[in-house]
Amino acid sequence: SVADMKGLKQGYLKITVVTTAKYVIPRLLGPFCQRYPGVEIALKVTNHSGILERLSENKDDLYILSQVPDEPDVKAHPFLANPLVVLANHDHPLANEKNIPIQKLADEPFITRESGSGTRGYVQRLFDEHKVTPKVKMELASNEAIKQAIAGGLGISILSRHTIALEGASGQIAILDVENFPIHCHWYVIHLAGKQLSVVAQAFLEYLQTEGKQIAENTTW
Ligand code: PGA
Repeated sequence: SVADMKGLKQGYLKITVVTTAKYVIPRLLGPFCQRYPGVEIALKVTNHSGILERLSENKDDLYILSQVPDEPDVKAHPFLANPLVVLANHDHPLANEKNIPIQKLADEPFITRESGSGTRGYVQRLFDEHKVTPKVKMELASNEAIKQAIAGGLGISILSRHTIALEGASGQIAILDVENFPIHCHWYVIHLAGKQLSVVAQAFLEYLQTEGKQIAENTTW
């Protein structure tokens, strides 16, 4: 309709995504913005609890995260696999081993995300389930900083595989072959159930679930 066209000609879209999704979403915005050059986008990146806060204050049109909250009432659309993997320095002795028992991770200096991180929550639950107590060496509130710490030989960590998307085979970081991994997380696009989505937000939601998803799945992250 004419109204729809107008909405897409000059819309404003506010999205907030979890820290690990920042490796994927900006790339998917490219083709969308080319199609709708009048659309202006504000993208915020925060952790799981940061998203819950913004959601409860109705700050954005759409959010992307792994664990869909029970409260407030939201509509959730499955989007993309987000496997969590064990990362170590390329030179680490475990880098060449196969089927490493999860208990062995307790022997390694461990770098953890900050409290409020969804990634940390998933890791904590898996460790609890297997009665693994990690030797936490350092807490860092940034996936990038954790990668640098791993590269610097400070320890191992568990992060979304998407965080090493652009590292390439020559990168300094290896994925360890540990039993019970990857942790199979999944990203969802969510919005407040009672919120009337704008034309632009609706278009972006549809784009993410179709073309955006395809681009992401066909990219070697
Ligand atoms: P986070 O992301 O660790 O940055 O909070 C978790 C998620 O995938 O929801």
